[in-house]
Amino acid sequence: MKVLITGTSQGIGKAIAELFLEKGHAVVGIDRQQGSVEHSAYTHYICDVRDREKLPQIDDVDILINNAGTQNEDDIDINLKALIYVTEKYGVQPGIKSILNIGSASGHTGAEFPEYCASKGGVMAYTKNVAMRVAKYGATCNSLDPGGVLTPLNDPVVNDPELWAEIMEETPLKRWATAEEMADWAYFLTVTNKFCTGQNILVDGGESINYNFVWKD
Ligand SMILES: NC(=O)c1ccc[n+]([C@@H]2O[C@H](COP(=O)([O-])OP(=O)(O)OC[C@H]3O[C@@H](n4cnc5c(N)ncnc54)[C@H](O)[C@@H]3O)[C@@H](O)[C@H]2O)c1
Repeated sequence: MKVLITGTSQGIGKAIAELFLEKGHAVVGIDRQQGSVEHSAYTHYICDVRDREKLPQIDDVDILINNAGTQNEDDIDINLKALIYVTEKYGVQPGIKSILNIGSASGHTGAEFPEYCASKGGVMAYTKNVAMRVAKYGATCNSLDPGGVLTPLNDPVVNDPELWAEIMEETPLKRWATAEEMADWAYFLTVTNKFCTGQNILVDGGESINYNFVWKD
């Protein structure tokens, strides 16, 4: 199948691209940075997903994975509005089989930076809207909403022992996910899955179920 993935130069997007290539699919990546995936079945376009007019012509996309994202840098423009441009251009068409939007646990909880969590909340609602519109093609559309994942995006806290200890206190499973683990989820939701659609799948090591029960002794 032909799989279009945004944000493939590092982190989760790169791991997803590498998994699909390993499984024998053709992968097209769009990233504002140089490509870093080395494979004969991989094509890279350098483009900022906000540049709606400059998005390359790519036909016959079977699977679209919207992964490009940022924190504290025009989050609504990049994480939400550009994701909408990309989906309307390549995803909402009769040949589509599956669309996956990489959201975030913060869209469920409202935690993290204000514009970031608002952008991801928008992704959750837009996912349901698209799921309804592509159902007539037999296609699914879901969001994969991770908690902490070990990628360069999180270097500021992963490399700070004090903050890292605090974060582990908040995470019942006492670790963060790897990008490869997220790639497995992405593959399952877009290739194996044929019947779950319009859902916001939270994969966060229990971070969002962490609570303090207050009661009289
Ligand atoms: N890492 C986490 O803990 C975590 C948790 C929840 C959700 N997410 C989401 O997962 C996705 C990937 O995150 P990551 O941790 O791999 O981040 P990352 O910063 O390691 O990689 C993001 C990639 O997207 C590209 N990108 C960013 N803005 C772009 C733009 N405007 N146009 C084109 N390319 C652009 C970057 O160049 C980079 O290659 C994001 O949507 C992020 O919000 C990450």
